[in-house]
Amino acid sequence: MNHRLPCKSLGSLLIIVLSLTGCTELTYQRMNDPSRDVWQKPQGVVGKLSIAPGSRVADLGSGGGYFTWHLSKAVGSRGTVYAVDIEESAINMIFKEMVARGTPNVRPVRAEPHDPKLPEPVDLVFSCNVYHDMNNRIDYFRSLASSLRPGGRVAILDYHPRGFLSGMFGHRTAKEEVRREMEAAGYRLLDDYDVVDSQHFQIFAKADR
Ligand SMILES: C[S@@+](CC[C@H](N)C(=O)[O-])C[C@H]1O[C@@H](n2cnc3c(N)ncnc32)[C@H](O)[C@@H]1O
Repeated sequence: MNHRLPCKSLGSLLIIVLSLTGCTELTYQRMNDPSRDVWQKPQGVVGKLSIAPGSRVADLGSGGGYFTWHLSKAVGSRGTVYAVDIEESAINMIFKEMVARGTPNVRPVRAEPHDPKLPEPVDLVFSCNVYHDMNNRIDYFRSLASSLRPGGRVAILDYHPRGFLSGMFGHRTAKEEVRREMEAAGYRLLDDYDVVDSQHFQIFAKADR
């Protein structure tokens, strides 16, 4: 079956609709469809993260690992990517893909909604299309600061609140809201990129350094 999507707006719309119906492995397979690359520009996004080889990165809300495999390449064989998700179906898919792709530097982590359960501090927490789903975000990111290594950063991509469906179902967060909440959680804005038309992309560091 051909899962390719004809255009970027239909692709992002389908991902929003699939997220609304709960995340099964089929949902994650659709999110991982290579046609997503056209609008999601994963190389452009990961390039802006300036990841040093050997880094430890958490893909928070990894889903089926759409970004995990790009991050795995960026950290290289000496680095580690923690694919963190609260859904068992996501973790199962990560395990399957790890075997299929042969990516020994990826470690799946089954998280709790209030706790990423990271086994060690990381250099970067990356999160795409998850922020709008999270509860008590200020408390969450305030406590996440203890899971960052010195100089650690948090990168957040989420959908702009545009369009009928995303507006109606709330699967988006305004850029300014993310920034305000992250500042309240003890972070400062480092970078604000415009790589993906439908999503904002901000990188934060702890404010006290
Ligand atoms: C829409 S999917 C995005 C998946 C992936 N980041 C991507 O861009 O393809 C959102 C994912 O975030 C996960 N999620 C939601 N809240 C979470 C939390 N508090 N901690 C970790 N994962 C979470 C969901 O289970 C789901 O797999």
